[in-house]
Amino acid sequence: MPNLIINGRNMSVDAADDTPLLWVIREQLQMTGTKFGCGAGLCGACTVHVNGEAVRSCQTAVSEAVGKQITTIEGLSAKGDHPLQKAWIAEQVPQCGYCQSGQIMQAAALLAKNSSPTREEVIAHMDGNLCRCMTYARIQRAVLRAASEMRTASTGNDRRNT
Ligand code: FES
Ligand code: FES
Repeated sequence: MPNLIINGRNMSVDAADDTPLLWVIREQLQMTGTKFGCGAGLCGACTVHVNGEAVRSCQTAVSEAVGKQITTIEGLSAKGDHPLQKAWIAEQVPQCGYCQSGQIMQAAALLAKNSSPTREEVIAHMDGNLCRCMTYARIQRAVLRAASEMRTASTGNDRRNT
């Protein structure tokens, strides 16, 4: 039985090595924040982080994730107050909401590496995450807002530590 580290917890799952990670997360572990969209790597609804990289969990075999740090939308922040989650509320991004956890996870991987993305960099990074409700402009605004708030918070922390 593969042992997975999801949101900091060790979890044993009963799945063949080639089972898609998405199936295990949703069906076995009942963590339904991660969505099934196309099942073919084309929409991004199933995006989670594996060792900090945004991956399509429908295209990631359980065996590829063993021993790595997996983060789902449920584990992005303990209280649901990641700057992206706050920016998503401020910008009222979701419409039906179905794609949004994947969008947030995709964006979080960008901001973890680049706290000052340009609008063009945001668009390029988010390119593979589809939204049938066409919330793209609000997504872009929310990512830029979160980046700005993260920079402000980090400057405040630097000042407090000097
Ligand atoms: S469900 Fe995985 S990319 Fe669409
Ligand atoms: S908000 Fe409906 S698919 Fe994106």
